[in-house]
Amino acid sequence: SHDDKVKELLGRMTTEEKLGQVQQLTWTGDTGPGGGQTKEIEALARAGRLGSVLNLHGAKWTNDLQRLAVEESRLGIPLLFGFDVIHGFWTTFPIPLAQASAFDPAVAETDARVSAAETRSQGVRWTFSPMMDVTNEPRWGRIAESSGEDPYLNAVLAVAKVRGYQGPADGSGLRSGEHVAACAKHFVAYGGAEGGRDYNTVDLSEQRLRNHYLPPFKAALDAGAATVMAAFNTVGGVPAHANSHTMNSILKGEWDFDGFVVSDYTGVMELVAHGYAEDPAHAAELALTHGLDMEMVSTHIADHGAELLDAGRISMERLDDAVTRILRLKYALGLFDDPYTDEAAEIAGPTAEARAAAREAAARSMVLLKNEGGVLPLKPGGTIAVVGPHADSADQHGTWAGPGRLVFDTVSVLDAVRAAAPGADVRHSGGGDPAMAAAAAWAADVTVVVVGEDSAISGEAASRSEIDLPAGQQQLIEAVAATGKPFVVVLVNGRPLTIGGWADRAPAVLEAWHAGIEAGNAVADILFGTVNPGGKLPVSFPRTVGQIPVYYNREATGRPYDEAEKYVSKYLDLPDGPQFVFGHGLSYTTFTTGAPELSRTEIAVDALERGETVEVTVPVANTGDLTGDEVVQLYIHDVAASVVQPVRRLRAFERVTLAPGEERRVRFTLGAEDLGFWTNDPAGTYVLERGRIDVYTGTSSAATVRGSLRLV
Ligand code: IFM
Repeated sequence: SHDDKVKELLGRMTTEEKLGQVQQLTWTGDTGPGGGQTKEIEALARAGRLGSVLNLHGAKWTNDLQRLAVEESRLGIPLLFGFDVIHGFWTTFPIPLAQASAFDPAVAETDARVSAAETRSQGVRWTFSPMMDVTNEPRWGRIAESSGEDPYLNAVLAVAKVRGYQGPADGSGLRSGEHVAACAKHFVAYGGAEGGRDYNTVDLSEQRLRNHYLPPFKAALDAGAATVMAAFNTVGGVPAHANSHTMNSILKGEWDFDGFVVSDYTGVMELVAHGYAEDPAHAAELALTHGLDMEMVSTHIADHGAELLDAGRISMERLDDAVTRILRLKYALGLFDDPYTDEAAEIAGPTAEARAAAREAAARSMVLLKNEGGVLPLKPGGTIAVVGPHADSADQHGTWAGPGRLVFDTVSVLDAVRAAAPGADVRHSGGGDPAMAAAAAWAADVTVVVVGEDSAISGEAASRSEIDLPAGQQQLIEAVAATGKPFVVVLVNGRPLTIGGWADRAPAVLEAWHAGIEAGNAVADILFGTVNPGGKLPVSFPRTVGQIPVYYNREATGRPYDEAEKYVSKYLDLPDGPQFVFGHGLSYTTFTTGAPELSRTEIAVDALERGETVEVTVPVANTGDLTGDEVVQLYIHDVAASVVQPVRRLRAFERVTLAPGEERRVRFTLGAEDLGFWTNDPAGTYVLERGRIDVYTGTSSAATVRGSLRLV
């Protein structure tokens, strides 16, 4: 088995080689080996003192460097190449927040499968994805990479991504030429950064950690995710990079994770800036002993490991364990059998099939927020004005797009509208001049206003204190609105925006997100009704920044909102709740859902523990006259619990396609893992408590149709 081989190899490694194996360095040269800045990496590869390299891709370039490690180093241990393939390598799919809006794990899985094949063909066998940081912070730029504010949705999508990247949960797909190892990140609670400022403090209770932030990680690891990345933030006063509670006790203890934990970029070094370690040697000691296995970019463990071992501050046993975990993955990936990549089989760009998949994914990810008076779908004739700073923009890749963004333009909305409506007179007024936009709108039958954020203002280190449309764009919408002619606003963005200032005046609003390489075509598919929109919001849209955090799965206060009362939890100057709730999204057709039918209204706790379940059936019907998609959603609320429970918790959903008049009965299963919760016990206690649990089903988190279940 691999374990025997790893053991045998480990036995032959020197301390220096072991310390090298836990080191990852970033490739800073433009191309392959030979560049000036890359001499150090080449020398370390030859010396067998480097485990992994990030940011190098290309079959030839990775082969050239790999050859130094495999053919010139003493033990010939292959390098592991890693890369941030977050929503596409060549073929950019929608940003993850958009993919979450599809409420369809197949979208995420398809992205991961296409991405894995492109990535693997480049000599890269490890992606730093999926990101599964639950967050209710729209100011935080990295909300774009997340699946939003719900732990269950994040978990479902993380599992789909891991399956797409890696193949089956048993790891058997890793050796194939089409898969890559996944990395569950960022461990943990990165999405809780105070104020939405990137890298900021996270302080939380044990129950919040376990109920809110950990479930997606547990699900991803159960699906076989090979690696985990530590988070930049502190968790309860201890940096995640040296947090023994989260890494040693939970991840490697309770969960028995046998993969490895990689640091984030210079995350070990940052333990000093955090005020947790006194100096680099101390940082290395704390990170390694508290559960971190591989250091990205900074070199504290490699630099100070020998002296720390001599002084007894770290143990050889712990270092061996870290190396074992890394070597195990290298064996699982088949690197020892075939460390190279077929240069002739390299995928050089998006295939037609990949583009088609990206287009479908993008259209499925879009959310129709509003559509009054049937403005949409548009007729592909007459005069159509396409205006706004994002109308003719190729910048729709979004944050953390792969190298494809540098080579392949996205399809602009303008070009796509022209292609989709060849019989129409399509006029364009770009830029941000409200007067020109209004003039175009006057002359048109209908106007498409494309506004939003450039890719660069969401993502890492791209938090915003205001999340309105960037300067001037609201004025543009107002100028078009003042014409009194019909128009639709298309939002191209990486986070929820505060749109209350103008949403009332726009008859139709389509949330298109940063939708990737086929963004424009997907927007046109929806505008003209070739695709009926069916996406739903994976995150609440706040009315104002002052209302943040506003999220659906909150705890009730003792004084919940009541319009008629003064002494209740509210803002004097805002209506209750967000602008748009979690789970909201419209269609060009209409649906009704009936009351949930429960297979039983009572179930014994010990029956649940034995694996018995409750079936919930929800009738759904298409009552309009177009085929369309609805996402049937099931939420629970445990009405009295020893740890106050969220007012709603998503436990199941299904996106269904129904023809006009068609009815379906959607079936969900609730079991022990759905009906209990984690207490504040640091050792990890999951409880199923007796009492009433309300079951809500419907088409958003505002669902009110209710059934009840009693745990006895
Ligand atoms: O994978 C990323 C991480 O999400 C943020 N910091 C850099 C890493 C590697 O590029």
